[in-house]
This record gives sequence, structure tokens and C-alpha cells, in this order.
Amino acid sequence: MNAALLEVNGVSKAFGGVVANEAITLDVPQGAIVGLIGPNGSGKTTLFNGIVGHHPIDGGSVRFEGREITHLRVVEIARLGMLRTFQQTRIYAKMTCVQNLLISASHAGEGFRAVFAKFPSEDMDRADELLSFVGLFAKRRLLAGDLSFGQQKLLEFAMALMNGPRLLLLDEPTAGINPTLINGLIDRLQRANAELGITLFVIEHNMRVIMNLAEHIYCLAHGELLAEGSPDEIRADQRVIDAYLGAQ
Ligand SMILES: Nc1ncnc2c1ncn2[C@@H]1O[C@H](COP(=O)(O)OP(=O)(O)OP(=O)(O)O)[C@@H](O)[C@H]1O
Ligand SMILES: [Mg+2]
Repeated sequence: MNAALLEVNGVSKAFGGVVANEAITLDVPQGAIVGLIGPNGSGKTTLFNGIVGHHPIDGGSVRFEGREITHLRVVEIARLGMLRTFQQTRIYAKMTCVQNLLISASHAGEGFRAVFAKFPSEDMDRADELLSFVGLFAKRRLLAGDLSFGQQKLLEFAMALMNGPRLLLLDEPTAGINPTLINGLIDRLQRANAELGITLFVIEHNMRVIMNLAEHIYCLAHGELLAEGSPDEIRADQRVIDAYLGAQ
């Protein structure tokens, strides 16, 4: 296995009396596609939020490329090359697809400033390239709010790629997407990994997707790390079957 790009060490997080993450330790090797599964409410999204600096963690540490990032803010972590997408898609509905990509570039600024910015032509070229990559080039001038839900997920993925991340955390990328589009999305994720060299850490409830995509899978239950292993090991793990997969 390659060196760890992301190291999560003993991370804990509670909301009032609810312990959402309890001393979770895991790592994501450089260049890998790693999965994160577990029942609803088992703490997956909370863990992502802690890793990317979306909220402070109560204990433990997070390292990215060997560097301590535990107390950095989201923007600082994004600048280092780690980005996440959201379980609920976050796009700018009243802007076109191209504009969504342009204002996602980290140097674009925020809000009004970004809307009125004059974008460099490299950004325009990159935006077009990425819209082609996710199969949305023909829709580039359409308002993002008029895209179908699945297309909005693809747009959000392209927005994340706009900053050339080294590690992308994807929170349920295929939720709500129909089977045909899911295959296209899996293909895009694999190509982003193989061709663009982006390491992926993916939360997913669709077992067909995650078993095909990930080389290593972690399973959470009740905020704790329950099991880890290859897809075959996870599929056969009695603890995972009892807590999550059920008898198939
Ligand atoms: N901001 C918050 N305030 C209070 N409780 C929260 C907050 N965020 C998460 N929780 C609680 O933490 C626990 C873990 O939630 P989390 O969203 O991480 O689960 P999840 O594994 O992502 O679930 P799902 O598969 O349904 O998305 C849940 O009990 C949830 O209610
Ligand atoms: Mg979640």
C-alpha cells in the first residue's frame, strides 16, 4: 500500500449527549479509492465534517500529507488540496453550469466579488474541459437549477475538480441517481482517480457501487469503527452483516 495521504487518529465528536464519532482511527493511502459505509446515523458525515474542518473535533488528530491539519479551517484545508462534496447537493441554482464552475475556482473569491470577476481564460478552458468530462458540455449555458438531480450531482463533482484536489471526500455521490447514470458516475470517479490522480474517500449506501469502486472499505456503527477490509472481507464480515448489510 502507498503512504497515507490522510491519517485520522482517534477522532471523537459529540453533539450534546450524542456521541457521533468515538475514537475513530483510519487512513487513506495516496492514489487509492477508499469506502466508508455504515447504517444511517452511524457518524459517516460527521467524520467527514471533522476531517475537512467543517466543525471542530473533540479529540484526536487529522493529518494530510503528514501535516497536522486538525485545527485548520475548511478554506485552509481546501487550499492544501482536500475537498468534500455534500450529501445535499450545493450548487448555485440561478447561475449557469459554466458560472458554477468558474466561481468554484479557489482564487475566484466569494459571493458578489466572484460573480463580477473577470475570469482568466485558463479557467474558462478548464471549466469547459470538466463539463465535457462529466458529460454536461451541451448543458453548459443552462441554469444549474434546471438540471436534473443526477446532473446536479455531476455538476457538483466537476465543481470540486475545478480546484485540482489531491483528495476528494464524496458524501453519497450516487444517492438519488438512476442506475444508468450511476454507471456513468462510477466511470467518471474511476477516471478521476486513474487519469487525474485524485485519491477518493467515498461514503456510499449503494453496495454494488462501493464494492466495485473501493479497494478498501471502513464500516462504522454507532459512531465507532466496526470493521475494515477489502470488499470481499467486508461482505463476509459477520459484524458488518449483523449491523448493516443483513443476510443477502
Ligand atoms: N449538527 C448536529 N447536531 C446534533 N446532532 C448531530 C449533528 N450532526 C449529526 N448529528 C448526530 O450525529 C449522529 C451521526 O450523524 P451523521 O450525519 O454523521 O450520520 P451518517 O452516518 O452520515 O448517516 P446517514 O447515512 O443517514 O447520512 C446522528 O445521531 C445525528 O443525529
Ligand atoms: Mg450522512
